Amino acid sequence: MVLVSGAGTNLQALIDACADPAYGAGIVAVGADREDIEGLARAERAGIPTFVRQVSQFTSREHWDHALTDSVKAFDPDIVVLAGFMKLVGEDFLATFAGRVVNTHPALSPSFPGMHGPADALAHGVKVTGATLFVVDDGVDTGPIIAQTAVPVQDDDDVESLHERIKVAERKMLVDTVGRLAREGFTITDRLVRFGG
Ligand code: GAR
Repeated sequence: MVLVSGAGTNLQALIDACADPAYGAGIVAVGADREDIEGLARAERAGIPTFVRQVSQFTSREHWDHALTDSVKAFDPDIVVLAGFMKLVGEDFLATFAGRVVNTHPALSPSFPGMHGPADALAHGVKVTGATLFVVDDGVDTGPIIAQTAVPVQDDDDVESLHERIKVAERKMLVDTVGRLAREGFTITDRLVRFGG
């Protein structure tokens, strides 16, 4: 199961990887928090079921979270991948899928959490940034780290060029790591994520 909010290039990388049976995983559905995004179109073109749960269509954030949880639960996923999903999931969601929700973030955690990872890294003047795949907890990009990939910042970068370079490395990290999670399983002990078991 993959949740998206935008272009869905990370989703596309997963769709492409899942086409090979040796990858060991399949995408049961793609959910989104908004209509008319390329991420949903990519899923539809691949013949993957989709659904949309938009915050504004619910009377509260809690109701939205409950509906999102039910929609995801209906597909009985082993792992839920947030791939550019621009909403914080709530209590219901985390309680239901505890330890099985992973999120990819365009910065090297614990630096630059939140919605503007590439812009914040650029503004800080770091020379190396990257992407982090982590197990979602109730903080903002604070959960146990599964994988990271480093990307150099160039002197003439703007937010877009930096984010695009991060996304190239991010897609590879996501595909490699989600495949391993699916094939090998994983454990979490005191924040330390290990494959296997
Ligand atoms: C990715 O870089 C992802 O890490 C980021 O949005 C991009 C989505 O790209 N997510 C966040 O910033 C979440 N805080 P995509 O839609 O092309 O996969």
